[in-house]
Amino acid sequence: MACRHVNKYTNLLLSQEESRAPQIAAPGLECIVAGFIAGDPRRSEGMAWIATLGVLPEYRRQGIARLLLLECEKQLNSARLRLCVRMENTPAIQLYEKECYLRVGTWTKYYNDGGDALVMEKIQVIEE
Ligand SMILES: CC(C)(COP(=O)(O)OP(=O)(O)OC[C@H]1O[C@@H](n2cnc3c(N)ncnc32)[C@H](O)[C@@H]1OP(=O)(O)O)[C@@H](O)C(=O)NCCC(=O)NCCS
Repeated sequence: MACRHVNKYTNLLLSQEESRAPQIAAPGLECIVAGFIAGDPRRSEGMAWIATLGVLPEYRRQGIARLLLLECEKQLNSARLRLCVRMENTPAIQLYEKECYLRVGTWTKYYNDGGDALVMEKIQVIEE
């Protein structure tokens, strides 16, 4: 699924009041889903994609996105990782740059509203 379609779900989830309702993680253990990430392991293409990432506003700037990103990268287990992000999304771009993603291209008018996407890539060492 292309990032722009997955991002629709991210935006929807981040805007829903229901997203803040406590979930039962285990008997007697309630938790809040503060953030989420999805990875797309496209092995045939030789690279994996970070498809979407979001953290509820009230839980931001606590390192949650960074933790989600690092865990997703680990699970994707791909030497080459890519993602796309809105050109003006400074918080996300700063996060990705801090985690060693480089700017490798742009997709003009990628988003439905005509916004451009920045394509970013990270090469990581995979332990056999
Ligand atoms: C982008 C987003 C996922 C960051 O989530 P977060 O949990 O707040 O991020 P973290 O706390 O892990 O921040 C890690 C780093 O990202 C950068 N960063 C995060 N938010 C930032 C902000 N508002 N302004 C500038 N830099 C920011 C910082 O470098 C930060 O490191 P620091 O806190 O040590 O300075 C969150 O703002 C979000 O959900 N935004 C809406 C959805 C979105 O844009 N998703 C990305 C789509 S590609």
